Amino acid sequence: MGKEKIIIPLDVDSAEKAVELVRALKDDVGAFKVGLELVNYAGLGIFDKIRAAGATKIFYDCKFHDIPNTVAGASRAAAGMNVWLFNVHCSGGFAMMKAAKDAALEAAEKAGVNPPLVIGVTILTSIDQPTLNNELRTPGAVADQVVNLAKLAKEAGLDGVVASPHEIESIRAACGPDFLIITPGVRPAGGDLGDQKRVMTPAQAVSRGADYLVIGRPITKAENPKAAAQAIAAEI
Ligand code: C5P
Repeated sequence: MGKEKIIIPLDVDSAEKAVELVRALKDDVGAFKVGLELVNYAGLGIFDKIRAAGATKIFYDCKFHDIPNTVAGASRAAAGMNVWLFNVHCSGGFAMMKAAKDAALEAAEKAGVNPPLVIGVTILTSIDQPTLNNELRTPGAVADQVVNLAKLAKEAGLDGVVASPHEIESIRAACGPDFLIITPGVRPAGGDLGDQKRVMTPAQAVSRGADYLVIGRPITKAENPKAAAQAIAAEI
């Protein structure tokens, strides 16, 4: 169903505001994303609070990036909190990604919960070509580096990647039909772009092969968020 593909980012600065969004949207979307802003304001107790408000699938957008041993420990903790999905930076390398996935599987089994999906962040969409080449001194095209990192994530056993809508087709071609692709930067036709630049509509992103869409402000800032979510689900 269309609504199962929609992930709402809870980009707010308090547990109360997050709970309010979950109550309003829980029947019309697939999952909720808890990122660095909310978790640093509200603490990890936020997971129980939004579950009590009706969130069932939680994407913990923590983007772990450290040595493999440390990321394995953090991944065990994330899996023990029974999140649906969490992510790590692919630039941490093969061993770090594998450590995250292995630790998550082991901890979920121990806790008797479903193993979380572990997703890689390839290159942040805020890193453009000059930044990659001149600041980070990494040669090559951003698009190629994204595909390289997605392939490495797959080899390391990750379940998928987060990617810009414009990278969906090349990742799909390189990583196959079962590799999950989650994409932000999605705007309904004619919608306000906000600070997103290279956007696609929900229908375009799904027809190009996206499995899940992270859609924030077009829903959360709409006059009627529930109606906005339903309209996007229908379009999908
Ligand atoms: O409001 P909007 O739909 O732009 O929200 C998009 C969400 O996806 C935000 O939580 C943003 O941090 C996240 N995101 C993004 N671009 C990326 C990775 C994550 O917009 N490359």
